[in-house]
Amino acid sequence: MENTSAIKIEDLSYKYLSSSRLDQDSSTFKEVLDKISFKISEGEKVSIIGPNGAGKSTLLLNIAGLADEKYREGEIYVFGKKLDRKSIYDIRENIGFVFQDPNDQLFSTRVFDDVAFGLVNFLNKKDHSKAKDRDYIEEIVRISLKKVNMSGAEETIPHFLSFGEKKLVSLATVLSYSPRILILDEPASNLDPGNRNNFIDLIKNMEKTIIIATHDLDMAYDFSDRCIIINDKHIIYDGSSSEALTDSKFLRQNNLDLPLRFKGPKK
Ligand SMILES: Nc1ncnc2c1ncn2[C@@H]1O[C@H](COP(=O)(O)OP(=O)(O)OP(=O)(O)O)[C@@H](O)[C@H]1O
Ligand SMILES: [Mg+2]
Repeated sequence: MENTSAIKIEDLSYKYLSSSRLDQDSSTFKEVLDKISFKISEGEKVSIIGPNGAGKSTLLLNIAGLADEKYREGEIYVFGKKLDRKSIYDIRENIGFVFQDPNDQLFSTRVFDDVAFGLVNFLNKKDHSKAKDRDYIEEIVRISLKKVNMSGAEETIPHFLSFGEKKLVSLATVLSYSPRILILDEPASNLDPGNRNNFIDLIKNMEKTIIIATHDLDMAYDFSDRCIIINDKHIIYDGSSSEALTDSKFLRQNNLDLPLRFKGPKK
């Protein structure tokens, strides 16, 4: 029997509806992904790279079941289960998604509630007795915030955090319930060097399937042996990060640039 992939995507196409407000009949579609296919094994780490507007976030939203299925063609399987209207809630249980914009993630009036939300939801779904165990929830929230260097932020109002702090708290909201797959859209944007390095160490050493979309090619190089590069709706590369990310000509052709470590006086 074939080993079940954590994620399998077959001929995924996606388009957005862009309708004119003045004339409802002149709705047009913008195709963003065109017949994308790949597999990711359980425990594998992958970086999705590509210029602005390439379709990285759209791809990640589709995998997590957060995109409108009306505009999707092709199949997505998560641990062998086909993503559809029926399976979506079970599949989402296995996926922790961090949005590119942390303001899409944080909706509570206390950091504590945002970090506890996924965990309590998860425990409730499982009818787990710990769902009502206040001490347990507090302990997990404390540990999750500590992992992202935001210890003691429980009572803070998320709205008043800096953008980088919001990114860190957003990460804690998915670490709290430990899903089998993490999908992180630009997870390190606006993080200072210390927090960025702490974060890379954290996710690199997790025994989980993790996909990140990033413009930080140094991070992609450090984080994953495999990268998938998308440009103009298509996968243009799927393979070794160290090969693709040292090829300056190939990167420039695709509106990308060498990781910083390969630039500068020595090169
Ligand atoms: N909700 C939407 N409605 C219409 N078009 C959209 C929508 N979201 C994204 N798009 C368009 O789809 C294309 C792909 O967007 P997407 O956000 O997936 O790109 P990206 O690779 O994540 O870019 P970035 O690097 O800037 O985050 C862009 O041209 C964008 O304008
Ligand atoms: Mg994006």
